Amino acid sequence: LAKGLIMADKMPHLADEVFQTLDPDDWDEFRESGHKVFDDMLDMLQGAGDTPIWRDISDKAIEALGTVVPHKPQGLDAVLSSFRQNIEPFMPGNHHPRYWGWANGAGTAYGLISTMLNTAYNANNIRHRHAGAWVELQVLDWFKDILKFPCESCGLLTSGGSMANFAGLSAARTAMTGAESRQYGIAWSGVKGYTVYASSQTHFSVAKAWDQLGMGYANARKIAVDAEDRLDLVALKKQIAADRRDGYSPIAIVGTLMTVGTGAIDPMGDIADLAQDEKLWFHVDAAIGVALAFSDKYKHLAIGVERADSIAFDLHKWLQQPYDVGAVLVRHADGLKNAFSFDAPYLREIKGSVADPPVAFSDLGLELSRANRALPVWFSMQIHGVEAFGRVVEHNIDLAQYLVEQVSKAPSLQLLAPAPLNIVNLRFEPPGAAEAGLNQLNEEILRQLHRRGIAVPSPTTIDGKMSIRVCIINHRTRKKDIDILVKAIGEIGLELIGKKKDAAE
Ligand SMILES: Cc1ncc(COP(=O)(O)O)c(C=O)c1O
Repeated sequence: LAKGLIMADKMPHLADEVFQTLDPDDWDEFRESGHKVFDDMLDMLQGAGDTPIWRDISDKAIEALGTVVPHKPQGLDAVLSSFRQNIEPFMPGNHHPRYWGWANGAGTAYGLISTMLNTAYNANNIRHRHAGAWVELQVLDWFKDILKFPCESCGLLTSGGSMANFAGLSAARTAMTGAESRQYGIAWSGVKGYTVYASSQTHFSVAKAWDQLGMGYANARKIAVDAEDRLDLVALKKQIAADRRDGYSPIAIVGTLMTVGTGAIDPMGDIADLAQDEKLWFHVDAAIGVALAFSDKYKHLAIGVERADSIAFDLHKWLQQPYDVGAVLVRHADGLKNAFSFDAPYLREIKGSVADPPVAFSDLGLELSRANRALPVWFSMQIHGVEAFGRVVEHNIDLAQYLVEQVSKAPSLQLLAPAPLNIVNLRFEPPGAAEAGLNQLNEEILRQLHRRGIAVPSPTTIDGKMSIRVCIINHRTRKKDIDILVKAIGEIGLELIGKKKDAAE
C-alpha cells in the first residue's frame, strides 16, 4: 500500500456505510412544504402592491440574524419560520409597482419557475457539453440580432453591467496594447498611461474597470456633457489631442445608451466616427438602454451601437430578468478569448465527453464557475415574446412623461433635469422657498416615502440639488401609482414645512 493511503478496514464509516445526505429525510413532507412555499410566493407576487413597499428591518430581526454558527439541524419548518419573521418582511421591495429606485428590475413570476429549474439541476455553465451552453449561445445570438451586431461576434452572459463593462474594456485593453500586456502587465511597454474617455455622466463601473485592469482610474477621463447630459464631442476631441501631446496612449471611447442619472444618450454615430478616425476602441454601455432596442417606437435611439467594438448591457434591469444577469458582446470573434483565456490541465477538453464544450465560456470572462444565467432569459423571451418587453418600455416612458406633466402642473414641484425617457428627477420646492434647506427637506421627503412604505425612488444630486429620482423600469407600475407618488410628495412636503414652522414658533 502506498504511503499515506488508509486501508478500507481502517475506515469504519465505510464498513457499514454511515453517511450524511443533504436530501430530505421525508420527501413527501418536503414536497408539501415546497408546494406551500411556491404558493406563498405566487400570492406575494399576485398581490405585489398590496403591502407597504419597504419596512426598515427591526432590531429583533437584526438580532435574530446575528446568531452563532448553527452546528445542529434546525429543520425546514423552523428555518422557514425564521425567514418569514426576520427576512421576508424586510425584503427590498423591487417587486412592488412603486419601486423606481436606482435601476433595479422588478423580476417576473416566470422567473420563479426558470430559476427553480436551474437550481434543481444546479447547472454550472463553466465549459462543459450540456444544453445550457447552447442556450447561452442562443440567447447571445438573439441579442446580436436585436442590436444588429455581427453574427460572428463573441459574447458572454455576466453577473451584470459592471462585469460586462469590465469584460468589454478588458477586450479593448488586450486588443489595443497587445498580448504582452497580459503576460507582463501594462507597465511593460513603458507608456506613460493608457486612457479611456467617457462622459462625466458615465456609470462609475467604467472607471472602476479601468482601475481594476491596472490602468488607473485617473486615466479614465471624464468628458464634459451638453445641456442634455450627452457627451460633448468637442471637449472629447480636445482631451484626446491633449493626452496624445502629453505622451498618453488613448485606448477607447465609451458611449452610454441611457445614463443612470437622467437617461441621456450619447451621440453614438459621432463617437463611432471619431473612434474610427482616432483608431480607438468604441465601447457602449447600454446597461439600461438596451431595452430601447426592443421597442419599435424607440429602437431608432439605439442606432449607432451596432458600430461598437464592444457592448455591455444588463438584463436584470429594464428587461426584467431575475438577478443576476448582464451581457457583453465583442465584435471581433476572438476579442474575449484573447483577453481572458488561460490553460490548465484540469480543464483539458476530450472530444465527445462532458469536457467537450461548444464554447469554453471560462475563456471569455473572469469567472470559471458560472450560474446557468441564460435559462431564465431563454425562458421568458419565448414565453412573452420580445415585443412584450418593447411594450413595457413604451408604457414606462409614457408613465414617466405623465409624471413630468404632473410635476410641471404642480406649483410646488420642480423638474431638475431634462427627462427625455423614463428617468425623472424632481424635488419639492414650494413657491418662494429659500434654496438653503431645500436639499435637507427633499432628503427627508425621500426618507419618508420609503419609511411610510409608499414608494421607493432613489436620491441623486443634480447641479448641487438633492433630487428625488424616479427611474421607471417596472412592468407593474400603473398611472395610479404615479398619482400616489405626486400626492405623497406634496403632502409630506407640506407636512414637513408645517412641522418646521411649528418648531420655530
Ligand atoms: C449605465 C449603467 N452602467 C452600468 C451599471 C452597472 O450595472 P450592474 O449594477 O448590473 O453591475 C449601471 C447600474 O445601474 C448603469 O446604470
